[in-house]
Amino acid sequence: MMQKYPIGIFDSGVGGLWVLKEIKKLLPCESINYFADSGNCPYGSKTKDEALSLAKKNIEFLLKLKCKLIVVACNTVTAVAIDNFRSKYKVPFIGMEPAIKPAAMQTTSKKIGILATENTFNGRLFKQSFEKYANGIDVFVQPGHGLVELVEQGRQNSKKAQSLLEEYLLPMMEKGVDTIVLGCTHYPFLKQIIKKVTKNTLTIIDPAHAVAAQTKRILLECDLISNAGNDPKFHFYTTGEKTIVEKFLSHEMDSPYRLEQIQV
Ligand code: DGL
Repeated sequence: MMQKYPIGIFDSGVGGLWVLKEIKKLLPCESINYFADSGNCPYGSKTKDEALSLAKKNIEFLLKLKCKLIVVACNTVTAVAIDNFRSKYKVPFIGMEPAIKPAAMQTTSKKIGILATENTFNGRLFKQSFEKYANGIDVFVQPGHGLVELVEQGRQNSKKAQSLLEEYLLPMMEKGVDTIVLGCTHYPFLKQIIKKVTKNTLTIIDPAHAVAAQTKRILLECDLISNAGNDPKFHFYTTGEKTIVEKFLSHEMDSPYRLEQIQV
C-alpha cells in the first residue's frame, strides 16, 4: 500500500529539479511531489536556525501529502539538519553528499575544488568527508556567492553568471585544480557556462546520480518501491513565482504534471 505513495523532494528553490530528473530516470514508476521554497531562497546565507525552521515547514507539508520518503535535494539543508530530521520523523531521508570521495578518486593533479554555499562548508558532513577522503589531496573551497540567485532568476547562462564563475574557478585552475565538485544543487544548471569558462578542462562532479541511486537502494531496503503497474503522478509546489519553475520544467519534464503556488 505505502509503495504507491509519492516520494517527496524539496529544495530552497529550483536546484533540486536536477536531482528530481535523475530520480525520475532511475525510478520511472514513482510519483513525486516536489517543493521549491523559492519565496525564501537562498538558504545558504540564512542562519542555521532559520534554514532549519524553513526546512521543517517544507517537510511537514510533504508529510501531509503522504510522502513515503523524503529527498533533501539541498546541500545546505542536508549540512545543517539531516541528523535532526532523521531523529524527529519516521520516514527515511536521503540527503546530498559532499562529493569529495569521487573527486578524490578522479583527480590526477591531486587538487580538487569545491563550490558550495557557506552553510554547507560549515556543516559537520563536509568536515567529516574532508577528513575521511581528502588524504593527500589539496582541497580548494569556494563559496558560490550570487550563483543560486542567478539560477533562481533563470539567468544561468547570463554574462553575470559567466563573470562570477570566472572569478571563482580561474584562480583554482591556476593552482592546478583539475576536478570541481558542484556542492549545491543549483549549480548543475550552470554546467554549460562552467564548461565555457574552464574551456572544458575540468572534471565536473555532480552527485545527483549517486543520490538517485541511494534513493532506489533505500526504497528497496524498506520495501517501499512502486511496482511497474503504478501510474506515476508529478506535482510541483512553489512558494515563489510559478513562471520560473515552469520555465525549468519545460526543459526538464517529459511527463504531464501539475504546478501550484502555495504558502506554508
Ligand atoms: N540548492 C541549495 C543547495 O544545494 C541552495 C542553497 C541556497 O538556497 O542558498 O545548497
